[in-house]
Amino acid sequence: MRVIDENTITEAVLEQMAPTPDPRLKEVMAALVRHLHAFAREVDLKPEEWLKGISFLTEVGQTCTPHRQEFILLSDTLGLSALVNALHDKHIKESATKSSLLGPFYRQDAPMLKLGDSIVSQGKGSEVVYYGQVVNSAGQGIPNALVQVWETDENGYYDLQKHDPSIMDLRGCFHADAEGRYYLRGVCPLGYLIPMDGPVGDMIRAQKRHGYRPAHIHFMIGAPGYEELVTALYVAGDDHIDSDTVFGVSEPLVVTVKQNDPASPMPGLPSIRYDFRLATAAQQDRASGRVGADPSQITKRGG
Ligand code: BEZ
Ligand code: FE
Repeated sequence: MRVIDENTITEAVLEQMAPTPDPRLKEVMAALVRHLHAFAREVDLKPEEWLKGISFLTEVGQTCTPHRQEFILLSDTLGLSALVNALHDKHIKESATKSSLLGPFYRQDAPMLKLGDSIVSQGKGSEVVYYGQVVNSAGQGIPNALVQVWETDENGYYDLQKHDPSIMDLRGCFHADAEGRYYLRGVCPLGYLIPMDGPVGDMIRAQKRHGYRPAHIHFMIGAPGYEELVTALYVAGDDHIDSDTVFGVSEPLVVTVKQNDPASPMPGLPSIRYDFRLATAAQQDRASGRVGADPSQITKRGG
């Protein structure tokens, strides 16, 4: 009979999991066990530390609701979401806009609006026009591309963080025109603190991190035959542009607000211009590249 000790335990677990019929599940779980055991050995994990970790993860789970996703926040603050995004981008062979974090505040049923409409229904803030073109890797416009946007209000809060999270604000869906052009009105983005009132906030404070995301607005863009793009635009000059708590900023996604852009389709308002480049879908049935989901879908069992 085998003696289970700190070295033989890993092989024993891998052997027991070996019959897993799904090859990808087998590969992922075996790697998880190897790395988890290596981590425990490296730090010589103590029983009280193990229990603290279990309590922390329990609290992370208990903080999740249909309107709040503390596990995504944990993944984001540990850099795992940004890593999964980068691994996803690596597989895209054509030139395409870089992806950025979906975050925990995406909602899948935002209202459908007309080009030029404002996504602001309740919030205030200084108005800005977002405009540009959705193009393919050859620079040709993608007609009718679906552009979804969401951002915080003038106080740095998403609608999901408000007293009544069922009220939608500062988000919308738009169809680009026949040349792939889009334009819409929103508010000028502000930097904000990630939710700090839960276990992830406790972790951030224990690590003496500031907890801020630099000013940004989220975009999710799709069109039949193209890889869905999940990204965000970050405003140059923000104090936290180089120290985002969730590692979402990338230089090509940094934009400036122009006061008098003659090319703006809505002159008279400050504007932010960005052209998004989508890659052709590698496979028609490829799973989405989203690192995240609407929180209400995740809390549904099997969601
Ligand atoms: C966001 O940008 O919405 C976000 C991303 C990660 C953590 C918290 C917020
Ligand atoms: Fe955000």
